[in-house]
Amino acid sequence: ASTLGAAAAQSGRYFGTAIASGKLGDGTYTGIANREFNMITAENEMKIDATEPNQGQFNFTNADRIYNWATQNGKRMRGHTLAWHNQQPGWMQSLSGSALRQAMINHINGVLNHYKGKIPYWDVVNEAYADGNSGGRRDSNLQRTGNDWIEVAFRTARAADPSAKLCYNDYNIDNWTWAKTQGVYNMVKDFKSRGVPIDCVGLQSHFNGNSPYNSNYRTTISQFAALGVDVAITELDIQGGSASTYASVVNDCLAVSRCIGITVWGVRDSDSWLGANTTPLLFDSSGNKKAAYNSVLNAL
Ligand code: XIL
Repeated sequence: ASTLGAAAAQSGRYFGTAIASGKLGDGTYTGIANREFNMITAENEMKIDATEPNQGQFNFTNADRIYNWATQNGKRMRGHTLAWHNQQPGWMQSLSGSALRQAMINHINGVLNHYKGKIPYWDVVNEAYADGNSGGRRDSNLQRTGNDWIEVAFRTARAADPSAKLCYNDYNIDNWTWAKTQGVYNMVKDFKSRGVPIDCVGLQSHFNGNSPYNSNYRTTISQFAALGVDVAITELDIQGGSASTYASVVNDCLAVSRCIGITVWGVRDSDSWLGANTTPLLFDSSGNKKAAYNSVLNAL
């Protein structure tokens, strides 16, 4: 196969990218994205501040721009994200307690009502665990509504769109030895044992000097999969763009049948949230294929 999407499809997987609605008029950008990728995540447009800027008033203008572009080009989407402590609209930031809990439920229902049956995977909850050695939850306004907020979010999402696969997504849960990884693993295990509806875990996989790729990544993927959930690599970028590290990530996913696909967090280095100078992606800022691109294509 000569593209990332077609190469991933050889093993029944997908290869995706994050897309920004503001760049859909850039022909170089859309040309690469349309050619290479078959799964799309909205980089910001499906987040809470974008889709419910005023309480109870939903706005899907930019989210639908991406959805329509993806669909018209035969691509599926990962929905990102329904409940998160970041990128909350101002009105939500100022809520707490039962009012915030109800607002979270209403938000999930509002977004999933709009996209019911149209988006196969959703990051229902994003980044709910703490960094460091606690292995516990991150403090946030949502966490302060009660420890059951995550399972309430998943149950709400299941009822709102029974056809969607529901994922928990986080960063720094790639290294099996880290307390944060174990905390999320124990949550998923608990959810599966109690029948809380969860179908997948998203490993963001933002690799850099402080949280580098580790060879136990394959163990992490297979341990989550053994709990009975799919695993997706959801926001891959590797600062410095090491071709061999990119190949290791691909090989680790291919080694686990329940690792269903890989999404890189942007098209060209100039599109990266980390800045072009960190060279973390598969295409350079001019849109040329990098060594990392060839490495990924060969590994798939
Ligand atoms: C980032 C976007 O790439 C930026 O454009 C935005 O300013 C901030 O959010 N984890 C996530 C993503 O789950 O939503 C974040 O995306 C990157 C980290």
